[in-house]
Amino acid sequence: MDAEAKKRAAASAALAWVEDGSWVGVGTGSTVNHFIAALAERRQRIAGAVASSASTERRLRDAGIEVAGLNDTGDLPLYVDGADEATWHLQLIKGGGGALTREKIVAAASRKFVCVIDDSKLVPVLGRFPLPVEVIPMARSLVARRLVRLGGQPVYREGCVTDNGNVILDVHNLKITDPAALEAEIGLLPGVVCVGLFARRPADVLLVAGAQGVQTIRR
Ligand code: 5RP
Repeated sequence: MDAEAKKRAAASAALAWVEDGSWVGVGTGSTVNHFIAALAERRQRIAGAVASSASTERRLRDAGIEVAGLNDTGDLPLYVDGADEATWHLQLIKGGGGALTREKIVAAASRKFVCVIDDSKLVPVLGRFPLPVEVIPMARSLVARRLVRLGGQPVYREGCVTDNGNVILDVHNLKITDPAALEAEIGLLPGVVCVGLFARRPADVLLVAGAQGVQTIRR
């Protein structure tokens, strides 16, 4: 089974968590795009979706799914999103697609976060994937210097402006042994809007697609 087929399998498995008549929080990325395609098949049975990015919002609308803002729906029963890395403790690195801030907001507003990945993303320790950090543009160099002090090698993501008008630093070579502590420490740096560690609000359910099928890991 190739990576794309695994992503599709994980995304399809997430459909089982969707409750009829409810709003669904929808993440961003190629795995979630498979989820949107599957959700479209049952769009009459849900109230609609809350998008974690402009690109997801467009895709949902194109699929005929009603889109509402979080300020109108209130808390959500379910958020479905992918990740760039995940551990067995369901802590994640996200933001490879640049949508980390809104993803973290929708995850925080959701009672259940179902994360869908293929098995290449399951790791013992986070940090092989460069950690995305969304930064206010004027603070880019300041934050980069502080990230070097923390032992990382920040690389400015050229040509990327987030949906919030900010920039992204991808931090290489961090060995993240205490994800919750690092999430708090980086999050407190002046100029940082969001760090792509999802450790303080990890996923609740991880659906991992491999050659043998989809494995469910719960917190
Ligand atoms: C976007 C994300 C994505 O969930 C993450 O990058 C995984 O993407 P894909 O499903 O395309 O591999 O965090 O900001």
